[in-house]
Amino acid sequence: MRGIILSGGAATRLRPCTKVTSKQLLPVYNRPMIYYPLNTLIKAGIKEILIIVSPERAGDYLNLLGSGKDFGVKFTYEIQDKPGGLAEAFIIGENFIDEEDVTMILGDNIFEDDFTDEIKNFKKGGKVFAKEVHDPERFGVVKFDKNMKVIEIKEKPQEWVSSHALTGLYIFDQRVVEIAKNLQPSPRGELEITDIQNWYLQKGELDMAMVKGDWIDAGTFDSLLEAQNLAKNKLQDKLII
Ligand code: G1P
Repeated sequence: MRGIILSGGAATRLRPCTKVTSKQLLPVYNRPMIYYPLNTLIKAGIKEILIIVSPERAGDYLNLLGSGKDFGVKFTYEIQDKPGGLAEAFIIGENFIDEEDVTMILGDNIFEDDFTDEIKNFKKGGKVFAKEVHDPERFGVVKFDKNMKVIEIKEKPQEWVSSHALTGLYIFDQRVVEIAKNLQPSPRGELEITDIQNWYLQKGELDMAMVKGDWIDAGTFDSLLEAQNLAKNKLQDKLII
């Protein structure tokens, strides 16, 4: 299993704090934000991790994280020239993924849960993780029937579809690279992760689990503040980096 952290983007919603640095390098209590998703991957036993960054900030990530030796893992770096969507990570990561399965986590997603079992037991297809939220319009959302079977996945729907957001942690088999290469950009000009999820869903190969503990996408000022408190009050003893 390979790991990818997507840590690009311009983070315009957090200006001016992100004018001269990247969102995922901002402090979340006592660590840079990216340490939390990195911790999720390293704790699950993933040893080879690709960090995808924007060209302007690449040097900062190298200075902060280095080769990975300090963390007992190996880091590889790639550049995302402009925010082309989450699914683009699998195209950028083609050589890195090679013939392996891949777990991708977003650099601004902070989880309380431990995903070691989910990652170690992954066999084939796609696996996504959902969480009930009060603001589903900010996320990809998943609708399921009364047996918890996934019926539909929609990216940031204007009209209410469901209160279950899909979090920024995804496990896919190596087919994801070809799937990503065949996607068409959405109306907002991005390759959407939801299109990959829907590809696996239509094949009957998308598995979904619920996130039990807290989860925060720290991409807004309010959620960043929530993340600080979560990190201080609940995460300190779960961090190994
Ligand atoms: C992205 C995804 C969305 C997902 C969210 C999780 O949105 O497009 O499907 O629910 O991450 O954090 P973004 O935060 O990039 O707007």
